Amino acid sequence: MDPIQAINDDRHLARSHDDANADLCFLALSDEGQPSVRTLVLREVSDSGLTLFINSTSPKWQIIQENPAAELLLWYHSIQRQYRVTGRIEQLDRSVIEKNWPRRPAGSKYLDHSYGTLADQSSVLASRQSLIDHVTRLRESRPEDDLTTPTSATGVILIPDTIECLDLNRADRIHERKRYFRHNNGWVTEHLMP
Ligand SMILES: Cc1cc2nc3c(=O)[nH]c(=O)nc-3n(C[C@H](O)[C@H](O)[C@H](O)COP(=O)(O)O)c2cc1C
Repeated sequence: MDPIQAINDDRHLARSHDDANADLCFLALSDEGQPSVRTLVLREVSDSGLTLFINSTSPKWQIIQENPAAELLLWYHSIQRQYRVTGRIEQLDRSVIEKNWPRRPAGSKYLDHSYGTLADQSSVLASRQSLIDHVTRLRESRPEDDLTTPTSATGVILIPDTIECLDLNRADRIHERKRYFRHNNGWVTEHLMP
């Protein structure tokens, strides 16, 4: 079984069950031994890897520059299946974000334009009101149609080395745990003790 196909099939199934995690993932990074994890929208899963959109003013982008090794977690409660994907992160070609960014909701576009102009993502604000005032001024001075993709909007791809699937959805309660790793342009499967 191709694990990329398995993830896509399971995302599809999870969506059909209105699973709140169907379009999300949890990305773990390590910054000189300090772990960090965050929720992200999982944009696409393909043979090339798992695509994410982030902002280059964020701490996670700095960490990725220093250490591109990552682990990404998927948990689909509706089908009782977990995936852990390990690999390395690379930046995507600018054209990918240029194509997708214009489809973002207006509020997200104005927030994206506030990174860099007001403050970097995850940095300390003088107050919440300072952010509200900044976004309000932006909205008044620039109609949505004038907003172009900010240079800090960035697409990245996690290229998997291993994909592990834990399936809890077994009537006999004997969970199934499989790990896939790359070999000769394909994937080899091994069974792990769940
Ligand atoms: C449901 C949900 C979806 C999110 N999607 C994204 C996303 O696609 N891209 C992103 O950069 N941050 C997203 N975030 C925010 C991140 O979890 C995180 O707070 C932010 O990117 C700053 O992370 P950092 O300080 O580790 O760099 C999302 C948060 C939630 C709760």
